Amino acid sequence: MKKTSLGRRKFVRNTSLGVAGAALSANGMKLFYTNAVQDIDKPALLGGTPVRPKDRILGSSWPIYDDSDIQLYLEAFKSNIWSEYSHIERERVFQTEKKYAALMGVNYCVATSSGTAALETAQRAVDIGPGDEVITQTNTFIATALSTFNLFAIPVFIDSDPESFMINADLIEERINENTRAIIPVHIGGAAADMDRIMAIAKKHNLIVIEDACQAHMGEWRNKKLGTVGDMGCFSFQAGKSLCSGEGGAVVGNDEYLMAAAKGYTHIGKDPRNKGRVFTGSNFRMTPFQAAILSGQIRRIEEQSTLRDENAAYLEKLLGEIKGVRPTKKNPGQTRRGYYIYQLIYDKEYFRGLSKSRFREAMREEGIPFGNGIDSSLHSDPFIETYFSHRAFKKIYSKERLDRYRRENLCPVNEMIDRETGLSLGQRVFLGTKKDMEDIVTAIIKIQKNSSALL
Ligand SMILES: Cc1ncc(COP(=O)(O)O)c(C=O)c1O
Repeated sequence: MKKTSLGRRKFVRNTSLGVAGAALSANGMKLFYTNAVQDIDKPALLGGTPVRPKDRILGSSWPIYDDSDIQLYLEAFKSNIWSEYSHIERERVFQTEKKYAALMGVNYCVATSSGTAALETAQRAVDIGPGDEVITQTNTFIATALSTFNLFAIPVFIDSDPESFMINADLIEERINENTRAIIPVHIGGAAADMDRIMAIAKKHNLIVIEDACQAHMGEWRNKKLGTVGDMGCFSFQAGKSLCSGEGGAVVGNDEYLMAAAKGYTHIGKDPRNKGRVFTGSNFRMTPFQAAILSGQIRRIEEQSTLRDENAAYLEKLLGEIKGVRPTKKNPGQTRRGYYIYQLIYDKEYFRGLSKSRFREAMREEGIPFGNGIDSSLHSDPFIETYFSHRAFKKIYSKERLDRYRRENLCPVNEMIDRETGLSLGQRVFLGTKKDMEDIVTAIIKIQKNSSALL
């Protein structure tokens, strides 16, 4: 450890909390908390010095690449093969599918042009269509629901659990009816939905489970990768995701027939086994350029995921020493999480009633940009009526059926989360340093101490 001649207070302020804590007392965290509070300046929002200067980003820039990634891309470019559809060994897309299937521990991976395309492909493979209902959740990216609507079926939105912010599995069964065909739980933010409960409900009602793991790369449920627990799993490799290729996606699974149907849908209905055009089809193919980028990024994913695990564990340890901002509760079967959007719970009672939006504003000025959680309550989004007013929907669904849907389409807990308690940090924050984690907590303490002045 590097020796320092700094005074005690400065030492606490400027060094790793772990080190400072160990040096100061058996209960180092509490001591850090106290010292940090004593040392604290007024909030940057009120003219004080920010915890982090504006130009110092929290965590890492994204995406991360080096010359070897550029080389992989150039090789694809110079090959003169700019589109691949033969599904043969030497193709980049084929190779990348194999790599991702191995990483996920499944037999099959079907690469797609996007995560949205992956979700549509998976639902196509199990023949979801007009008149069907698919249970999903309200706090997800709109694409989860669009992919169902685009097949002229209806997504049914389930409310969130107030502590885990995940789909509330207790509310699923009451929304199952004779039209329900599938459940699409979303491992939202990268944390795991309660897959034990969901699989049991699906079994009881003979439903298909398609996991939306678009935000959950490398997360695990009982040591199996998220996306591989249900019948099929869908991933996004869009630029911001923890594994990315600009745009891109994948469906993974073990069922030979379903995965052949999925592959077929991405390429004009062709069965990848015998090339016969026997399935419904479209063109959702991944390009060799996307595959080249992805194969470069896959090399780093375990190391990056481990760093995120470590930083998140450290942040959680620090947060354990304060009140008012805490991590969301984990479903017990989650053995690892993804970090696309790490969700936290804000409790304004510990900030003298300071609203979440004002807290976020103050934190932003400190150089800690908390997001507003997942911040989507799809059940109340106008896009539902856009689809319902579509000519085909009017033809397929009676007014009575749609009116009943509207009456049942309520998710008050998630609205409360959006409004009052949901906070988030993006995956790239956890690619930073321990000091980054400490700065987050220091800034929270600073705002908490000064909350009266910020009201
Ligand atoms: C939960 C979820 N589902 C689906 C998607 C769609 O993925 P893509 O943007 O690659 O189409 C995303 C992407 O943001 C997502 O977060």
